[in-house]
Amino acid sequence: MPIEQAVSLTMKYYLLLFFTALVCVASEIVDNYKSYKDYKYYEVHGTQHGIKRLTEALKKNDASLVYSSSKDVAEFVIAPSLVSFFMKIVTEENLMYNILYEDISNIIQLERSILPGKGDFSWTSYYDIDDINDYLTNMSKTYPSWSELIAGGQSYQGRTILGLRINTSQRNAPKPVVFIESGIHAREWIAPATTTYFINELLTSNDSNITHIRDQFDWRIFPSCNPDGYHHSYTVDRFWRKTLSKSSNRCIGADPNRNWDYNWGQESSSDDPCDYQIYAGTKPFSEIETRSLSSYIKGIDNLLAYISLHSNAEILLVPYSDSNQHIDNYDDLVKIGNVSLDYGHEKSKQKRYRGPATAAEILYKASGGSMDWVRSVLNVPLVYTYELRGRLFYWSPEKIPEQGDEVTQMLLGLMTEACKFGYC
Ligand SMILES: *[C@@H]1O[C@H](CO)[C@@H](O)[C@H](O)[C@H]1NC(C)=O
Ligand SMILES: *[C@@H]1O[C@H](CO)[C@@H](O)[C@H](O)[C@H]1NC(C)=O
Ligand SMILES: *[C@@H]1O[C@H](CO)[C@@H](O)[C@H](O)[C@H]1NC(C)=O
Ligand SMILES: *[C@@H]1O[C@H](CO)[C@@H](O)[C@H](O)[C@H]1NC(C)=O
Ligand SMILES: *[C@@H]1O[C@H](CO)[C@@H](O)[C@H](O)[C@H]1NC(C)=O
Ligand SMILES: [Zn+2]
Repeated sequence: MPIEQAVSLTMKYYLLLFFTALVCVASEIVDNYKSYKDYKYYEVHGTQHGIKRLTEALKKNDASLVYSSSKDVAEFVIAPSLVSFFMKIVTEENLMYNILYEDISNIIQLERSILPGKGDFSWTSYYDIDDINDYLTNMSKTYPSWSELIAGGQSYQGRTILGLRINTSQRNAPKPVVFIESGIHAREWIAPATTTYFINELLTSNDSNITHIRDQFDWRIFPSCNPDGYHHSYTVDRFWRKTLSKSSNRCIGADPNRNWDYNWGQESSSDDPCDYQIYAGTKPFSEIETRSLSSYIKGIDNLLAYISLHSNAEILLVPYSDSNQHIDNYDDLVKIGNVSLDYGHEKSKQKRYRGPATAAEILYKASGGSMDWVRSVLNVPLVYTYELRGRLFYWSPEKIPEQGDEVTQMLLGLMTEACKFGYC
């Protein structure tokens, strides 16, 4: 073979290698999504002591994920390698269990199989953070006379916590402000989806009850308050909950709903930076997301209502989350919140959300959440956390409008009733 030809063949070979490598890198990014193959999902019932022991034992193990745990029932995702350890404690403590899913990777795959392509934003699928932000941007341009983009803060990776302000020219200023904080926990995908659905309702509905609340308030709505975490959940690990800041020991992220500066680090908080779920950060407001967002909130005059959207406990919570004590207008909040749940139930005909109550009463105590800070430091009259529907943070994409309609009615009921109580 002449030398020249050999060289060019070698070149071709290298080029081929090069392109093969590129393709491999590309497909690796696609396949990089954590599969959770054969992870099982359990619901466990039993004694308070037994549940506690099981939770404590599993917490230390990163092959298990504790999703929710109240006094006598808890839910766990368990890696195949950990099943026998799990069963040992379950047996020793005489606990009862149901397997809710044999293999949770199927749900993840199902959800991913219908992720949206490029094109118009809709509510039949879940969108990544850039698409959500594009939607907000588009809406601010479509309705420029009464909506505008607002920056609530920054993320560790340099994203803006982007929101939409809706302030129509009906009625005179100063209007009371209603603030919606959604998606602070990254994996709770139904929260941002429901929030953009609600924005769409405010912008386009002709229902006079909706246009009435739209005009009555100055709305500040933030669909994703943990944009880095959400993107990570969307592209790497479905169950990611925290921020993406780097700890000195190289573990990633803190729980942004344990990081606010009120009773920080006490209930249901971890001081272990490697804790997958509830690491509270190095200090109050260690995370730029909570630090910047709280300073934005502090700057709002006339803040009447602060509404936080999470999933998936299907409950309505009132402050405080880390105490058994009731705040001074607790009775009002419960009555108003109860009407909110009536509106939602009337619309959806699904099982009624539980509550309203404090987390200590119906969930578990947790410190350092946004709701408690907003109430205690800013003394905002109406403060609520809605835990939306779903199981294992999955809510079927084709049912986003169903949840969206229910929550729209709940918020309509909430603000309508609050006004009847004299808050507006
Ligand atoms: C912006 O929103 C309008 C109204 O919903 C829609 O028709 C249009 O396609 C959107 N544009 C982009 C670039 O998404
Ligand atoms: C919000 O709308 C009201 C009513 O039109 C107006 O008076 C007020 O100036 C608006 N606020 C801002 C900051 O644009
Ligand atoms: C609301 O009314 C406007 C104008 O009357 C109309 O163009 C629009 O399609 C209506 N929207 C809905 C969702 O019915
Ligand atoms: C608006 O709310 C009232 C009750 O507050 C209800 O009777 C009426 O049907 C609602 N209107 C619409 C269009 O849903
Ligand atoms: C909440 O509403 C339900 C149904 O309307 C009612 O049965 C219940 O008594 C109410 N609870 C409170 C605390 O108002
Ligand atoms: Zn949450």
